[in-house]
Amino acid sequence: MARHIIARTSDIPPGGRKIVKIEGREVGVFNLDGTFYALKNVCPHQGARVCLGKVSGTTLPSPVHEFQYGLNGRILRCPWHGWEYDITNGRSIFDPEVRVVTYPVSVEDDQIVVSIP
Ligand code: FES
Repeated sequence: MARHIIARTSDIPPGGRKIVKIEGREVGVFNLDGTFYALKNVCPHQGARVCLGKVSGTTLPSPVHEFQYGLNGRILRCPWHGWEYDITNGRSIFDPEVRVVTYPVSVEDDQIVVSIP
């Protein structure tokens, strides 16, 4: 597994993201409250650069006539057709079998390291 230093932790503040190119592919690195996640910048639906999408929350399963909003700051919405993905695992909200490719991330000496298999 190849390891790549992509930034210092201070380069991506909480709620921020950075899109980098690693071994010919684009990877979006997100900071969610101090924890970093890396997703391949390809939507499994039709291939949009999903990491350019809006980060927000989503409506959660709830009783009829009730709307519960949650997971704020953890949902990535694809800019093309609005499919929503959980940044922490790449899984789609509507079908967890549909997912964006994710990569392991570690922090070493204040540097963010993304590992590519
Ligand atoms: S390409 Fe991402 S939702 Fe369609």
